[in-house]
Amino acid sequence: MDPKTKFSTHRERATNPLVWCAAIICTILTVAVIIAGIVTFIGYLVIHPRVPYVSVMDAHLDHIQIDYAGILEIQVTILIRAQNGNEKAHASFSDSSYSLSLNGEVVAQLVAPPFEVGKNSSVDFNYVVPSSPIPLRPDQAEDVDTGLKKDLITFDLKGSTWVRWRIGHLASVRFLCRLECRLRFHPLNGTYIPSRCSSKAK
Ligand SMILES: *[C@@H]1O[C@H](CO)[C@@H](O)[C@H](O)[C@H]1NC(C)=O
Ligand SMILES: *[C@@H]1O[C@H](CO)[C@@H](O)[C@H](O)[C@H]1NC(C)=O
Repeated sequence: MDPKTKFSTHRERATNPLVWCAAIICTILTVAVIIAGIVTFIGYLVIHPRVPYVSVMDAHLDHIQIDYAGILEIQVTILIRAQNGNEKAHASFSDSSYSLSLNGEVVAQLVAPPFEVGKNSSVDFNYVVPSSPIPLRPDQAEDVDTGLKKDLITFDLKGSTWVRWRIGHLASVRFLCRLECRLRFHPLNGTYIPSRCSSKAK
């Protein structure tokens, strides 16, 4: 009994400085993490509004027709704007590719060659996508038919573009701008029903 007590008391005394040391290191690390967090957050607030993004500005359903055999023909115009709000650096966009689908069927692919957007400026891409005749399954054809009767056709636009963007003089970041949204039209007059469609967060 006695030797055991002695041993544990001894051990406690011996580890005490180590415990203090660990506590101090822990505190320093915690403070460092908090400071890094605050710096990142401020950086985010300053930089975030200027991060380049793409968004759908306008669209028009020029033509939609489905025949008795379920063969679909459409032509859609979609205006996508690439925006660079940074006043000090230009942005390079590449691998822009978006697919347009109707009832789960990809009806058109929108692609653009690599392009540059100058400081504090934007570039518009007016995609005119005529689709070659697309045979639809009977259930898809029925959905399109219902949409035509209700004067409401919904497309899904999904895709992305890579952006290379310089921050300051040295750093350069490359990131993906994703677009994923529904584009709704009145097929009778082709009007686009505007909705938010942007890769910008918020
Ligand atoms: C950036 O563009 C906005 C709107 O186009 C304009 O109001 C602003 O003055 C421009 N800033 C610079 C530094 O050119
Ligand atoms: C197109 O049709 C819709 C629904 O009938 C209507 O709300 C819209 O104002 C029309 N747009 C034009 C440009 O005529």
